[in-house]
Amino acid sequence: MIDHNTVERIVELANGQIVDVISDFVELKRRGVNYLARCPFHDEKTPSFTVAPHKGIFKCFGCGKVGNAVNFVMEHEQYTFVEAIKYLGDKFHIHIEEEEETPEMREKKNERESMMVVTQFAAKFFHDNLLNTDEGKSVGLSYLRQRQVRDDMISKFMLGYSPQQKDALIQEAKKKGYKEAFLEKTGLITVKENFKGDRFRGRVMFPIHSLAGKVIGFGGRIMVSDPEKKLAKYQNSPESEIYHKSKVLYGIFQAKQEIAKQDKCFLVEGYTDVISFHQSGISNVVASSGTALTVDQVKLISRFTKNVTVIYDGDPAGIKASLRGIDIILAEGLNVKVLLLPEGEDPDSYSKKLSPEELKKYIQDNETDFIKFKTKLLLDESKGDPVKKATLIQGIVRSIAIIPDKITQAVYVKECSLMMDISEALLLQEIGKIRNKSIHDAEQRARRERMLRERQDPEQQPVQEKKTKNPLNYDERVVLRYLMLYGEVVLYHDDPEDEDGEEVPVTVGEYIISELRKDDIVSENPLHNLVLELYEKAEKGEGFSAQKFFVNNPNVEITKLASDIIGKEYELSKIHDRFGGVSQEAELLIEHVPKVVTELRLKKTKMTIMQLRNELKKAEQEGRTEDVVPIMKEISNWEHVKSHISKELGGRTIV
Ligand code: CTP
Ligand code: MN
Repeated sequence: MIDHNTVERIVELANGQIVDVISDFVELKRRGVNYLARCPFHDEKTPSFTVAPHKGIFKCFGCGKVGNAVNFVMEHEQYTFVEAIKYLGDKFHIHIEEEEETPEMREKKNERESMMVVTQFAAKFFHDNLLNTDEGKSVGLSYLRQRQVRDDMISKFMLGYSPQQKDALIQEAKKKGYKEAFLEKTGLITVKENFKGDRFRGRVMFPIHSLAGKVIGFGGRIMVSDPEKKLAKYQNSPESEIYHKSKVLYGIFQAKQEIAKQDKCFLVEGYTDVISFHQSGISNVVASSGTALTVDQVKLISRFTKNVTVIYDGDPAGIKASLRGIDIILAEGLNVKVLLLPEGEDPDSYSKKLSPEELKKYIQDNETDFIKFKTKLLLDESKGDPVKKATLIQGIVRSIAIIPDKITQAVYVKECSLMMDISEALLLQEIGKIRNKSIHDAEQRARRERMLRERQDPEQQPVQEKKTKNPLNYDERVVLRYLMLYGEVVLYHDDPEDEDGEEVPVTVGEYIISELRKDDIVSENPLHNLVLELYEKAEKGEGFSAQKFFVNNPNVEITKLASDIIGKEYELSKIHDRFGGVSQEAELLIEHVPKVVTELRLKKTKMTIMQLRNELKKAEQEGRTEDVVPIMKEISNWEHVKSHISKELGGRTIV
């Protein structure tokens, strides 16, 4: 590892000389205070790639890529953070001393490793139980036999059985000397106030393997459905340091070689679908495990092949799910086919009805490319209704518009034009319209995903992204922008505590943090929370600059966010209109900062109240009378806060 100080020095130097850094790869032309070039990250005729040397950042207004000098090198050379630092150290002749791992880093790494040791132990425990205990054999194994799962599959997928006894795993772990803490961290045991026990009990266990073949989580299937107790059919491991559901595909470890060899991947929904396909001799298959397909999952597949066939149940829900999945796959530049099974069948059930040869033939005969698939849906559904037909054509055009490769796109346009009797020109025109709009959205999404993936360096603190959109994103960014640009600037002076004491200066950063902490405001965007946390912890000595602190931050996600926010002038447009000129911004801080912060607090409060009202409604509908009063109390508390904030804001706008 490279020691912390050296990393800091290199980052600072590189960002200070960002023009020099980028000039090694791109021909930059001076344009005012900035530099301009044709973007190296996407095809363009007119330059929209901008380098702002005084800010130490680059930004492409065409494709949206942003970052500091380190981000540029990482992106351009496909380097990890550490590789980029080494490259830059070399360039600026800074000697890099490799440092021993700090105890903290070692602990983190050890923790993940220890967790995987425990999951491996548990998988083996469940597996042994299935094969070698009376309960396992009579309950678990007989269930698998009845479902015609062969022994070679049981061992290939390391299937197991978790005993009914409420602490069977805990006891065994204790005996073998495994730490309970890791059982807890991996979600293998649940700990509640007055209960501690195995999470999985009386279930057939499906271990989930990482790409490298380590057990990282489990799915456990209940054997008898018990409508009384309403137990879920599958129980899954919770998210943990080693198990991120949205990044994992069930079966990828057992399938990866065959996927590469066949240059094709089948995508199914469930654990049993994967296993049955293997049993029928088709082993290039993975499952999204019941969740909606994610970009990360598609990227995982795309490391092995560009060809995906989505297989879903032939019911309406299955079709809907496949449509969503298709667009994600297309957007990643992969080729996608669809295979619909006869109504009422899933890959597991259907593969058991056919011989392996028949199954392969069925697939060959019924696989369709997505245009044909969507068109067939269209023709079936619209049945001569022109309005419906138009909507569905839009749907197809939208999918085509997502395809990044122009040639593939052209092929589909031609096919679509022929099949639906619409001119190519018209289709292209529509695609153009959609692209303009969706490029922005898609790239924003891609950028977020990328930020979250770039975590090769232990410095990069993992931040889990929430699936829901953060409705206050814009307002939060406006506030964070002030924090990043002016954090160290003195906003006003507080009165001294005693009469002849000195006035206490309050900086923009201190003000923002203390105001936002007032009503425990947390963002739904974890990265925004991290910004505040990092700022709070930062050592703000002499010469501290918030902008430098963020742009030079060792966390890649933070530098990108900072570059993006700092690079955006338009967020100030309102201020421009009213006062004219950016130059005044710094002088108007005392007016604007409290305003935007208070506005954010107000919006957040209103949102909280809205959410509580919904909860209240739900509680009433579901007859949970005991919940009603506490929720009402909470609402009234927040109403109180709201009226306070409103007053503050009102007082201010008059000023
Ligand atoms: N799933 C889940 N939790 C549930 C239901 C489903 O996690 N309560 C996930 C599982 O990964 C499951 C997949 O969604 O494999 C598909 O669900 P389903 O088709 O209902 O299950 P099958 O795999 O077909 O299981 P089985 O054939 O045993 O019913
Ligand atoms: Mn099934």
